[in-house]
Amino acid sequence: MRIFPIRFFFLSFFLSAAGVVAAPVDEEKGKEINGVCAACHGEFGQGGKRGEYPRIAGQRAAYLKDQLKSFRARQRINIPMYPYTQERELPDEDIEAIADYLAAIQLPTKPPAFKAGDDALTRLRAMEKVMIVPRVEGNLEHGKAVYQKACAACHAEDGRGRGKFPLLVGQYTNYLKKQVDSYLKGERPHDEKGAGGILNTLAEQDIQDILAWLTSIQDSGQ
Ligand code: HEC
Ligand code: HEC
Repeated sequence: MRIFPIRFFFLSFFLSAAGVVAAPVDEEKGKEINGVCAACHGEFGQGGKRGEYPRIAGQRAAYLKDQLKSFRARQRINIPMYPYTQERELPDEDIEAIADYLAAIQLPTKPPAFKAGDDALTRLRAMEKVMIVPRVEGNLEHGKAVYQKACAACHAEDGRGRGKFPLLVGQYTNYLKKQVDSYLKGERPHDEKGAGGILNTLAEQDIQDILAWLTSIQDSGQ
């Protein structure tokens, strides 16, 4: 008779303990995994080769997790990353750790204000993090208007994304262009309307103007 309540007590104690302890952001683990990613995406997740490797620093954590799972499941095809996202290489807890780690990295758009005592190495390291995507040609006013009407609801008014909607500001223009193309070709589903979704409703010049506007607002906010 007595054993049941006791057992029940232990069981519920165990379950609640497991439930309340929210997984801490495993920064060390994230940093370690990033060592592998850095070969292509750069030490600070800043990307490289003018957008062949996208920026992943400061990207929305929920979006990063979605994309890594989608690469792993081969829903989003990415040959270079394929070996790194296999189950054995990248289990769910690693995806959590690396996504949280990358999302927390802030890449300034201006050189920081140094203190008199900062040594050369500190200054150099801080400068390495500064990231500005080159401006591109386009009608900024028109780009802004189309963006606010057609994109802001999901990617946020300032282009920095929210929740599972990715940041677009501060991302390489070449990379964004390539993604728009792959949405339009139906290689990647963009929104709930499927394939290119809302992107299908725009002219090529509209997209160009949006991308130009995005490169013009990098300084705002940060
Ligand atoms: C061998 C090079 C390489 C390595 C290593 C690599 N990636 Fe990538 N990654 C790429 C390329 C190339 C793309 C762009 C694919 C495309 O154009 O669709 C990409 C895209 C991504 C994206 C999508 C970004 C977006 O905005 O949608 C994420 C997230 C990402 N990588 C995370 C990682 C993480 C995390 C690691 C380490 C575990 C990693 N990558 C390792 C080459 C690499
Ligand atoms: C209804 C919500 C919604 C709207 C509106 C929207 N997007 Fe998106 N966008 C998404 C989602 C969700 C994703 C990620 C999809 C995926 O998993 O591939 C995305 C991804 C993207 C990407 C790829 C980013 C990356 O890092 O790979 C680009 C580029 C993009 N959107 C551009 C636009 C533009 C330009 C507009 C306006 C014309 C727009 N989106 C409007 C939901 C939206």
